Amino acid sequence: MSKASTGIPRQSLTSAVAEKLRDKIILGELQEGEQLRQDLIAAEFQVSRIPVREALRQLLAEGLIDIIPNRGAVVSSLSPSEIEELFEIRALLEREVLRDSIPNLSAGDLAHAAALLDKYDQELRDENSVADWGRLNTQFHASLYAGADRPQFMSIIRTINNNGERYTRLQLFLSKPAREIASREHAQLLALCRARDIEPACELLYRHIRAAGRSLRDVVEKRRHTPDAKR
Ligand code: NI
Repeated sequence: MSKASTGIPRQSLTSAVAEKLRDKIILGELQEGEQLRQDLIAAEFQVSRIPVREALRQLLAEGLIDIIPNRGAVVSSLSPSEIEELFEIRALLEREVLRDSIPNLSAGDLAHAAALLDKYDQELRDENSVADWGRLNTQFHASLYAGADRPQFMSIIRTINNNGERYTRLQLFLSKPAREIASREHAQLLALCRARDIEPACELLYRHIRAAGRSLRDVVEKRRHTPDAKR
């Protein structure tokens, strides 16, 4: 958040614009390399250019956009190895948080995780729900960390997820086997958490995220070498 914005109204306007743009990028409505023009965004949201500029600064800090000379703000495009790296970081951070969380997960937390997983599995069968897949995956994972009191870890994980979610959705959309593997591993993960089987759960989570990162790297690599592929 920019230090220059002092008044609450302007700051919340900035956050509101940032949130809308962030959603559009995560959902793929704004695609990699697409230009974000301040005047058009200001007109679309009926705000002045100041909150738009500040919102863009925020998205830049989150890695969702790049500023390119003569083109201005564009949706960032991650290389296949950068995408894999994001998943590597996630695997390391989430494993730590899960280890702290498991002993403290309440029956209510586990029930909440189970409900999210049911919803996720249902939506995975429906390709029209593709927009929700990345979000539900993130929500399910986060629900397993409810027992950990690690706000800083969670804040970094959230930022990484905002960057990775659009790619998670792409991977799930392109690969039915990947969807089946993810479902199976999520169910195993929940069972291990329920049994308080800490190390096996952490190990599975780590492998689950690393494997998703590798398969995504391959998917994106292939797509970028196919000239007609829509990103
Ligand atoms: Ni997952």
